[in-house]
Amino acid sequence: MSKSIIVTGAGGGIGESIARKASSTGYKVGVLDVNKDAAEHVANSLPNAIALHASTSDPDQVQQALDKFEEVPNALVNNAGIVRFGPLIDLSVEDWKSVLEVNLTGAFICSQAVANLMKNNGGGAIVNMTSIGGIQPNVNGGSYGSGKAALHLLTRQMSVEWGGFGIRVNSVAPGFIDGGMSAPIFEDTEIRTTREERVPSRRLGTVEDVAHAVLFLCSDEGSYINGNQIVVDGSVTNSLMASFPRPKSVDSVGAEES
Ligand SMILES: NC(=O)c1ccc[n+]([C@@H]2O[C@H](COP(=O)([O-])OP(=O)(O)OC[C@H]3O[C@@H](n4cnc5c(N)ncnc54)[C@H](O)[C@@H]3O)[C@@H](O)[C@H]2O)c1
Repeated sequence: MSKSIIVTGAGGGIGESIARKASSTGYKVGVLDVNKDAAEHVANSLPNAIALHASTSDPDQVQQALDKFEEVPNALVNNAGIVRFGPLIDLSVEDWKSVLEVNLTGAFICSQAVANLMKNNGGGAIVNMTSIGGIQPNVNGGSYGSGKAALHLLTRQMSVEWGGFGIRVNSVAPGFIDGGMSAPIFEDTEIRTTREERVPSRRLGTVEDVAHAVLFLCSDEGSYINGNQIVVDGSVTNSLMASFPRPKSVDSVGAEES
């Protein structure tokens, strides 16, 4: 049976990787991006894809993109996202709003529009791209992390409200990914090496690592997973305690009693 998927922010980075993997597994792909040239470049390089030029935070543009796609997608990936780093003490309200507008409101607008189609079409899968920045506070990442944490709550809320329509909604939270918006961070070789060493899995993630998790959640193999989050981070979010110094002597405390 033919299947179709719309990936937002698919003009580059993680979204492009999801679009490519989806295409290679037989999906017709809607490559949606606010960057028209980027969307067309990716769509034109795939066998069964269509470029959808739209901003996810504009309901009219999203509706036009869905009309252009001409079918009810089996899956939607809300991957489009932006970041504005800055300490909360003087972060501009404009920056705060722009991050939430794309990362949270955009995902809501696309999900609502697609869910209204899916519910009359036997259901479907929605995956929201969150982040470990929505699990752990990050340096200067207050607006981004708040939006991503809220996005996962939105995931859970939609899974409860829409489960009865046959719609599953899940999140994927990438960690340190060697690509997309994080690429500039890893151009600094010292920072790159330090992060690689501190991640419990001893490497950065790839855009393909994220795409695999997303496509699994979209697939029939994930058919009973609803309202959940897969953290694709090599266990970095579990390693907070391990980063604090600790005297060796405490490891022998209690040993003599056993
Ligand atoms: N790269 C990482 O390390 C990382 C880690 C955690 C989470 N994420 C998340 O993964 C997602 C993809 O990030 P990326 O690293 O590939 O970034 P990226 O900047 O490479 O790609 C984002 C894409 O989204 C598009 N976009 C931005 N605003 C849009 C809008 N309003 N409407 C439609 N498209 C829009 C951009 O044009 C771009 O093509 C984001 O949600 C990001 O928060 C990334």
